[in-house]
Amino acid sequence: MTDVLRAHAEQQYAGELAALAATDDRPKPPNWRLSPWAVATYVLGGETGDGTPVSPKYLGSRRLVEVAIATLATDRALLLLGVPGTAKTWLSEHLAAAISGDSTQLVQGTSGTPEEAIRYGWNYARLLAEGPSPKALVASPVLRAMETGGIARIEELTRIPSDVQDALITVLSEKTLPIPELDSEVQARAGFNVIATANDRDRGVNDLSAALKRRFNVVVLPLPDDAEAEVEIVRLRVEQLGRSLRLPAGAEHADEIRRVVTVFRELRDGVTTDGRTRIKSPSGTLSTAEAISVVTNGIALATHFGDGVVRADDVAAGLHGAVVKDPVQDRIVWQEYLETVVRERKPWADLYRACRELA
Ligand SMILES: Nc1ncnc2c1ncn2[C@@H]1O[C@H](COP(=O)(O)OP(=O)(O)OP(=O)(O)O)[C@@H](O)[C@H]1O
Ligand SMILES: [Mg+2]
Repeated sequence: MTDVLRAHAEQQYAGELAALAATDDRPKPPNWRLSPWAVATYVLGGETGDGTPVSPKYLGSRRLVEVAIATLATDRALLLLGVPGTAKTWLSEHLAAAISGDSTQLVQGTSGTPEEAIRYGWNYARLLAEGPSPKALVASPVLRAMETGGIARIEELTRIPSDVQDALITVLSEKTLPIPELDSEVQARAGFNVIATANDRDRGVNDLSAALKRRFNVVVLPLPDDAEAEVEIVRLRVEQLGRSLRLPAGAEHADEIRRVVTVFRELRDGVTTDGRTRIKSPSGTLSTAEAISVVTNGIALATHFGDGVVRADDVAAGLHGAVVKDPVQDRIVWQEYLETVVRERKPWADLYRACRELA
């Protein structure tokens, strides 16, 4: 694991997970690596039984995370729902890493996801040479999680065609996957469960069938409550990302982070922070995730082409790109925001200048 670009959660936080496991004396559901309490500590941060610090991964409501974890200890699956960039994928990876030590049993949902991605497929060379046999069978991530008693992750569940989604119904209700070709079946081991994520902006692509919905507990991940919370999330993630990209990330970026978050929130909410000026919102979502990448890009610019400290002209291009998704409508929104809000703020003169130069 020397120079992989992005280690899996269970690799990156192997130390924390091991420290938590070593001192975890609370009851564990069968085949869980950690007790639900320790999983929550891993996700939300805190310390292990012997005082080793655990870094927070998800910043948000403790109750929400507890509900998600408790769901996974029951026979119901977990559906994380929310607008883009609310850490659905992020939380699902960390939950799987903490509970089963493996976050890689992953099905990426698209309109082209075949049933084989949820059930099983065949290695055709073997199938033709030897006929159907367990060796010729290619297990899906879901099937592998059933066999090992682990967590399977399904990303963007609602993008998957309905008939393929329905393949999950038997798995979730019977905890069994029949394999008629081999005249056999796979029964899920204890510990097996599914975490699915879905985006409620793109709803209507393929709605979940009622039968499938009944098998999931839904946890809705909210946008950050206030600017402080959002700044904290961006700061935390920029620091973590900076470390893995070998970019310096320090307290000196704090002011620029606050400004990016303010711009994002004002445009998203359609009103300035002081509540005085109404503004139009652009077509994009301006998620926290995008704020993180605007700042990270700014740091890369400042590191390689500046003096290492992020300034207005390092984030201007990123801001413009995040806001102007539709070249006509969004450009008007952005211009209006620059002229009526940014221009009026004395300490923001540098940002106004940098953005004007780009536009
Ligand atoms: N509350 C939060 N705590 C920690 N990180 C957060 C939070 N909200 C957003 N993030 C960060 O935002 C980034 C994007 O999150 P993620 O990709 O999981 O979003 P998503 O909800 O799956 O979005 P999409 O619907 O586009 O798939 C991650 O780097 C994550 O760390
Ligand atoms: Mg996602």
